[in-house]
Amino acid sequence: MKLEQKLIESNKYIIDKLKLDQIADTAFILGSGLSYLAEEMENKRVLRTADIPHYPKSTVLGHKGEIIIGQIAGKEIIILSGRIHLYEGYTIQEVVYPIQLLNKLGIRNLILTNAAGGINKNFQAGDLMLLDGYINNLFQDPGINSDLSHLDFLDNIPFSTALNDLIIETAEKNKIKLKRGVYAAMTGPSFETPAEIRFLKFAGADAVGMSTVPETIEANKLGMEVAAISCISNLAAGISPNKLTHAEVAETAERIKGTFIKLLKDIVTEI
Ligand code: HPA
Repeated sequence: MKLEQKLIESNKYIIDKLKLDQIADTAFILGSGLSYLAEEMENKRVLRTADIPHYPKSTVLGHKGEIIIGQIAGKEIIILSGRIHLYEGYTIQEVVYPIQLLNKLGIRNLILTNAAGGINKNFQAGDLMLLDGYINNLFQDPGINSDLSHLDFLDNIPFSTALNDLIIETAEKNKIKLKRGVYAAMTGPSFETPAEIRFLKFAGADAVGMSTVPETIEANKLGMEVAAISCISNLAAGISPNKLTHAEVAETAERIKGTFIKLLKDIVTEI
């Protein structure tokens, strides 16, 4: 079946099930352990992504696999809790299916969140980092095989200047410290080795994770405004003396819950 047909069917399922009339224009994709923003929504309607026709199934611990539509500060938003990763065995095209679907649902602003390992020596576990660049160490691009061969980023950066400015202002207003930096995407699922982290540091990365870059590229391709925030859940391999575990990622996400929710809610208010 052609992609466009699949998207029409997925879209129709969501609209019929949720009897959507008011269409949101902002969506969040919530990373590992960060799904709590959904708890703050009013008038919430939830669908399991596993029930949406053609939607790739999320299999990762800490990723719920839900699409949630509801309101924050009276504004209708969509939350995707359950991102699709390359390391689950999906193709890069499947990884960005949710972005194509959000676009079909009418989303204009996309805010991605993720858990990431801190590389920059000024970072600590629990910091939040707004992305102002990325390094694509997945060496795959969702644009391959599409009819668009080259993608020029607006202003030469993949992230929306307007959204980034709004996020920086919102953080300042709330006295939330927001680091800024470059995110390097690795395929995972193995955490990096200390040698890889030295390589990424030398290459200019401030943080490392296993997501976000394909989604950012696809959102740009579709003309959406996109911004991304990392929760520095741990110091990257070799920088921290401790062995990295998924449990540490989850613990840090839980520890910064209050701050992260405040920032994300206020972004919705300001957007
Ligand atoms: N490396 C890669 N991905 C991650 C990390 C890390 O250290 N922490 C959370 N996601």
